Amino acid sequence: MSGTQQVKPALGETEGDTGNLTQLEFLALNSEFNIADGHARQALTTGQNKIVDDLPLLFAEGEKRPVEELEREAHAAFFNALGQHSYPIAPGRVLSCYSSSVAMEILSRSLAETIESVALIHPTFDNIADLLRGNGLKLLPLDENMLHDGDLDVGLFASTGCVFVTTPNNPTGRVVSKERLTRLAEQCAAHGAILALDTSFRGFDTRAQYDHYEILQASGVRWVVIEDTGKLWPTLDLKVGMLVHSDNLGLPVEQIYSDILLGVSPLILAMVRRFSEDAAAGGLEHLHRFIASNRAMVRSELAELPGVTVPDPESRASVERVGIENLTGTEVWERLREHNVYALPCRSFHWANPSAGDHTLRLALARSTDPLTQSVRALRHALTQR
Ligand SMILES: Cc1ncc(COP(=O)(O)O)c(C=O)c1O
Repeated sequence: MSGTQQVKPALGETEGDTGNLTQLEFLALNSEFNIADGHARQALTTGQNKIVDDLPLLFAEGEKRPVEELEREAHAAFFNALGQHSYPIAPGRVLSCYSSSVAMEILSRSLAETIESVALIHPTFDNIADLLRGNGLKLLPLDENMLHDGDLDVGLFASTGCVFVTTPNNPTGRVVSKERLTRLAEQCAAHGAILALDTSFRGFDTRAQYDHYEILQASGVRWVVIEDTGKLWPTLDLKVGMLVHSDNLGLPVEQIYSDILLGVSPLILAMVRRFSEDAAAGGLEHLHRFIASNRAMVRSELAELPGVTVPDPESRASVERVGIENLTGTEVWERLREHNVYALPCRSFHWANPSAGDHTLRLALARSTDPLTQSVRALRHALTQR
């Protein structure tokens, strides 16, 4: 563990300005007004309900059919639903994990075998930084604005062996465009750096659904992508994280994968296939409309409150940041907690400089609209309270 990491309090003992984001999310789990974590918790759609009704059939399918076939079908359905038609199909190139954090742990351990430091997008979800640091890697903050503005400073490549980017980013929702990804891949290839992407939120944003694998493969860069089904569908955390990698990666990801797991449940793979098919057949558009409508509701409930801003007007991710000039995110978190409402103060997203997140709060939008509306009204009340 790096010297900059603090000792964290036990689960359940966290206060708003200590601990990591997951510890704050944990406190919210039993509340009806949990708008903290980015997992999908909205009601199932009619099409999704039908899949849940079919779970006994999927279980029987999982018992009978070879897991390799179910896995291949789940991958094909998922990648095709999200426009990733050039994903690699050779055996071992898409490693199915219990969650994207498990995929991240495998990647971190693998990176630590050959490199010393990673340039990591800033801000982003703190468990990415924690898992990298936890495996002894040094981190260099890669400012999100600089990443989007143009080529990376070549000096960066002298001190890092990997560039890690979350796109769409959590919490900002910013997406790396096709043009930027092309240049980023070319730059990393030219300097021999690995390019790693976390695309867990890509399902929410069509701007993140151009074929990334085509670009990565054409560039010749050594690349890794972490994909995730867990943010999209309200499947009670039955999900798959995927570690997808180039054939020239040169890291022991398959070896370390086998140190940790044999594979994910065939029932979950069969379910992912069905949810992906439903997504491709209109479910994704439905989800986009649902999130857009929740976002519009949040913005209109908070509109015209003095000092309250919308930091990410272009975001389509299932989370929404709220800027608060007169209070810290932690103070608002404390006020909300008194009403059993849980949001997320943003300090820890700024893993290299927490104070940069002092005046923002993140709300989860993948929630049924009624409890979300009540939570946002409680937020409005908390923001106007003296
Ligand atoms: C960008 C990103 N990657 C990975 C994760 C970890 O996901 P999980 O908790 O399903 O492992 C999160 C969690 O919110 C995230 O936001």
